[in-house]
Formats: sequence, C-alpha cells, structure tokens
Amino acid sequence: MNSHEFIAGLVAEMDGLFAQLGETDTLESEAQGRVDVVTLLRLALKSEMEASELAALWLPTTPEVDAKMCLALQCGDEMKHYGAISERLRELGEDLSAFDPLADGHSPLYQYLRGLRTTVERIAGGPFASEAIAQVRNRQFVAFCRAAGDRQTADLYEDVIQPEEAHHHRLGREILERYAVTEELQELIRAATRNTLAIADELRNLAAKTTGVHSIPVS
Ligand SMILES: [Fe+2]
Ligand SMILES: [Fe+2]
Repeated sequence: MNSHEFIAGLVAEMDGLFAQLGETDTLESEAQGRVDVVTLLRLALKSEMEASELAALWLPTTPEVDAKMCLALQCGDEMKHYGAISERLRELGEDLSAFDPLADGHSPLYQYLRGLRTTVERIAGGPFASEAIAQVRNRQFVAFCRAAGDRQTADLYEDVIQPEEAHHHRLGREILERYAVTEELQELIRAATRNTLAIADELRNLAAKTTGVHSIPVS
C-alpha cells in the first residue's frame, strides 16, 4: 500500500471511531462527569502544557528537519493556547496564581508518548492522532459553550485555537505521507495511532463502549 492510501485508511479509522461519540462524550470523559466551562478550561491547560512539553522534548532527538519544524511550531502554538486559555479563565473570575496544571502529574497519554523513539511514531501519536482528538474535543467544547451562553470562550476556540490544532494535524499527516513508505514503518505508525486513541482521556467513554479500542498498560 502506498503511503497516501495507508494514511487515508488511518484517518478513516479515526473518523469511524469519532463518529461513535455522543455530543459531549469527550468532555464527560475528560472531566469525569464534571462538565462546566471553567473545569473544562482548566483541564485544557494541562493538555496544552503537555503538548508543548512533548514537542520540546522530541525536538533535539528527531533528526528530520520537516518534523523539527512541525514540533517547533507546535511547541510555541500550544503554549500560546495556554496563555489565551489562562486569560479567558481570568476574565471568568478564576484566580490562577497558585494553579499548577501538572499538580496531579502528567497524563497516561503523555507518559506513553514520551517513550516513543522513532520520528514516525512521534508524529503519529502527537500531531497526527492527538491533534485529531483535540479537534473533536474542541468541536464538542465549542458547541457546549454556545449552549451554555458563553460566546467569548466559543469564539476563542473557533477563531484562534481550533484552526491551529487543525494545522498541526495536517502537518503531521503530510509528514507521515512522506515517510510511511515501508510495511515496517506503516506498522509503527498504525500502532502509535491506535495506542494514542486507546489511552487518551477524552476517549475513555468510547473505549468502554466499543471493542475497537482497548486500553493498554503504560510502562
Ligand atoms: Fe493547543
Ligand atoms: Fe495543537
């Protein structure tokens, strides 16, 4: 299978999985039922921080320049999102002066991703799969904010954050289409993508509902 067909197949697999999600599933999974704008914004800070840290962590040990460019851009963008979300929380009256997004430690997904050693696995788990999940989660969050009457938060996500997450995903996809040229490389990409979908907090409810996704132990 050529790399473009292979990646298109993985995208279809992800879309098929996302299509099974209920309207607020990603939000309920992530927040363990506590679905309100402030809680979800605080949780988003942790995701943005982890995405930025991972990109930074991978940068020096990822030799391909196109992948470095993707990671460097992402590292900056995710921290910019962190700043914009913090600002919005302050407007909503939240005091973040003592807030540590990593107070409970890094997520299981972060622990899994940080262990990936090859460029294709990192790009598959990071920009390609995690950013696809982020887009689905953000779409659900925007709809939730609009329903709750919080137009400003919805606009921040729709106008600023979401287009950049989409760009990260697209860059990841293009890199994988360039490098997924052998069966061995395709297998690494498939496994990293599926593991990411299986571990992501946002898809926890889905994992419980379907047989297509199984949590795997994270070492
Ligand atoms: Fe982000
Ligand atoms: Fe992103």
